[in-house]
Amino acid sequence: MDRIKTGVKGLDDRMQGGIPKNSTIAVIGTFGTGKSTLGMQFLYEGLKNGENSIFISLDDDEDNLMATANEFGWDFEKYIREETLLLMKLSAIDIKTSLLRIRSELPRLFKAFGTKRCVFDSITLFELLFKDENERRLIVYDLTQIIKSSGATSIITSETDKTNTHASRFGMIEYVTDGVLFMNYHRCENERTVKLSIEITKMRRTKHSRDIRTYEINDHGLEVIT
Ligand SMILES: Nc1ncnc2c1ncn2[C@@H]1O[C@H](COP(=O)(O)OP(=O)(O)OP(=O)(O)O)[C@@H](O)[C@H]1O
Ligand SMILES: [Mg+2]
Repeated sequence: MDRIKTGVKGLDDRMQGGIPKNSTIAVIGTFGTGKSTLGMQFLYEGLKNGENSIFISLDDDEDNLMATANEFGWDFEKYIREETLLLMKLSAIDIKTSLLRIRSELPRLFKAFGTKRCVFDSITLFELLFKDENERRLIVYDLTQIIKSSGATSIITSETDKTNTHASRFGMIEYVTDGVLFMNYHRCENERTVKLSIEITKMRRTKHSRDIRTYEINDHGLEVIT
């Protein structure tokens, strides 16, 4: 089985070298745990190897994404110039109102661009638009299927539930994806610091570690340290 490296040091070797090629992974975490950064790091890892990549952001616009990438020394501008990277800012409302169009255009775009890696950041901003749970579930399922059938190896980010940090905000994305990474804050007693922890909760077709590991965000992005 071909594996795709996330580019996060200390993570890939805990899941047989990376995530299964063509799979779709949910990265679920509390605010500021580095979900968007992980998404960019994952794309950068592919871009370095000539893999065409798309970042769909419902949150940051292209300039902000670029500024974040620059901060970590990831030269996204070069890859945009070379047309191997596409940064797309879509508003959740636009996706909702033009879902029919997106349903047909997105798969076409994925194919035409030869997309090998894709990040959708975040599904929560989209889910929030639906009051009716059934409607939300159907449409999120639909969107996930579009991403899954693109053939690209993909990451979909999600916020955690407010009361249960081991579930996504709307409790669905972890069921419809092939793998789940949870990112959390960890406040140790007697320690005057907050640690970040990551766990691989699910990874289909993979013998993976179930240890909760500490990671940090440094000048190079995310790095699992212990
Ligand atoms: N150069 C850096 N060195 C250390 N930590 C950094 C650096 N740059 C960013 N960070 C940390 O990364 C966090 C932002 O990460 P990111 O935006 O990827 O998180 P997120 O999970 O996507 O957040 P949100 O839920 O708000 O979208 C910052 O709050 C900061 O703690
Ligand atoms: Mg984010």
